[in-house]
Amino acid sequence: MCGIVGYTGCKKAAPILMKGLQKLEYRGYDSAGIAVGRDHKIDVIKKEGKLDKLKEKLKSSMLEGKTGIGHTRWATHGRPSDRNSHPHFDEKQQFIVVHNGIIENYQELKEELKNKGYQFSSETDTEVIPHLLSEYYNGDLRDAILKVVEKLVGSYALAVMYSREPERIFAVRQDSPLVVGRGAEGENYIASDIPAFLEFTDDFYILDDGEIAEVSAGEINIFNSSGQQINKDIFEVDWDAEMAEKNGYSHYMLKEIHEQPDALRKIMKNRVSPGKIDLTEIAFPERIDDIQIVACGTASYAGRVGKYVLEELTRIPVQVNIASEFRYSDPILGENTLVIVVSQSGETADTLAGLRLAQKKGARVLALTNVVGSSIDREADQVLYLRAGPEIAVASTKAYSAMVTSFYMLGLFLGKQEGIISESKGKEMLQNLLCLPELASRVIEENEKTVKHLADRFQNCEHAFFIGRNTDYSLALEGALKLKEISYIHAEAYAAGELKHGTLALVEEGVPVVAIATRKGILDKMMSNIKEVKARGAEVIAVTYSDVKNVAEEADYIINIPEIEGIFSGVLTIIPLQLMAYYTALKRGCNVDQPRNLAKSVTVE
Ligand code: AGP
Repeated sequence: MCGIVGYTGCKKAAPILMKGLQKLEYRGYDSAGIAVGRDHKIDVIKKEGKLDKLKEKLKSSMLEGKTGIGHTRWATHGRPSDRNSHPHFDEKQQFIVVHNGIIENYQELKEELKNKGYQFSSETDTEVIPHLLSEYYNGDLRDAILKVVEKLVGSYALAVMYSREPERIFAVRQDSPLVVGRGAEGENYIASDIPAFLEFTDDFYILDDGEIAEVSAGEINIFNSSGQQINKDIFEVDWDAEMAEKNGYSHYMLKEIHEQPDALRKIMKNRVSPGKIDLTEIAFPERIDDIQIVACGTASYAGRVGKYVLEELTRIPVQVNIASEFRYSDPILGENTLVIVVSQSGETADTLAGLRLAQKKGARVLALTNVVGSSIDREADQVLYLRAGPEIAVASTKAYSAMVTSFYMLGLFLGKQEGIISESKGKEMLQNLLCLPELASRVIEENEKTVKHLADRFQNCEHAFFIGRNTDYSLALEGALKLKEISYIHAEAYAAGELKHGTLALVEEGVPVVAIATRKGILDKMMSNIKEVKARGAEVIAVTYSDVKNVAEEADYIINIPEIEGIFSGVLTIIPLQLMAYYTALKRGCNVDQPRNLAKSVTVE
């Protein structure tokens, strides 16, 4: 949802800004631009399209300045074009702004400004900001910014420069992420997300809503919304720059799929050991009557697995809510309701709003998130970190597996606490959990060849169906989403038993149907559903255990996963489906890491 960066120091700003933007390109990639200050003047270069186009354009320009800001855009207001690209100037080209978020009252502000004679040169909501700065500036830029943000309704992370003080950047946020990096002596940074400048620093200030940072090469000063200077703690990041690189893989997505065994080890470290699960880092409410899971996209599909896991292991009723619906509903949350919000980025606008609504209604919120210091991390009452390391590809893979594993851990911990899981059953289940990293490695090794073949076979199909029952249905939803988002093949997931109530009409000769059959108690039912689609000409790809002979005999293609206790099959099942989506997208020539119309971190509604 747009990435913003800023640099001020002793080196030429443009190449450093471009490096930062490259790291943030996952946030948006339909146009990009940078502005660099020098001698009471700000030079701006922007270009529609991916960052490479901007890079090309930069070759013929001389940007010498040592302070600058940059932006990579995911269009919300105004289609992708040079004109709508950020940064945006006021008419006199004095104030320049990059923005991530949405100014909801921009129409009203634009009208007011137009009536005062201001002329607009883009269709963006952002452009009202530089004009407002020009309107309110009275010798003190910080003061002008505070006045302007008072007028704004919506979400924003802004970086602002002024041509008469071209060595300073101001940064301010409301409901959109923004960090300030403290670099080596004489160099400082701002960014939407930490990986932008991990190469240069591990020390960041994480701005809170309403705070404003004044950043120059020599110092960083932070003020609250009333303009008083405040002291903030430095947040020291323990990710290193390499973790945010491709490390020899052709795409981030492939790297992140392969990182899953390690991610599983990390999430369980010091939490799960033979015979023991320790989640004392979380202060659970004394009594939990019901659980509400709130999340978007892949995180919500992990939540759907979580529902089955938690209900089976704890017998506490669980409901899964899509955050964009939840936030505009009037949910019934009792004082003994535990709300679990799930978010890789910790910045998804709808999930954050769901968290706030739940707290407003008096519920306690536990967050499952990957990004330490994110808004969701800071606002939730309790946090269970996913510890998956930076996830850069737009399609989530390792974070999903970590989310599902957190539900296993939560289920086992609460199930034991509630007295639902016996000591011996608990030990057996923990053993299953501890085997997951090893088994996940095996799944990757043993299936890469099969899925490449399947990608070859089905690369030209227009539709695909994913079916399953119980947790396998939740996995079908995630498998279908992966295929859709990166290969652009229309894929639908159905609860296998529901197909005959309408959707079966779409199954015809040659349509691929991925049938997930890992829940042993209901394998016969899955067999009937496989037969139903086969009878209509579908080509069935079954994901199952090697000893499930009847499924293997009926299916056209088999993806085998290692035998594991039913509820724990989720992580192993999703890996081949991620790989299948990856190789299919690759065969179709799609941009795997940056699929069209999408962005990694959805910080707008
Ligand atoms: C995942 O492949 C998707 N691109 C998307 O559905 C994502 O999971 C969703 O936007 C939620 O993101 P979050 O986990 O960062 O909140």
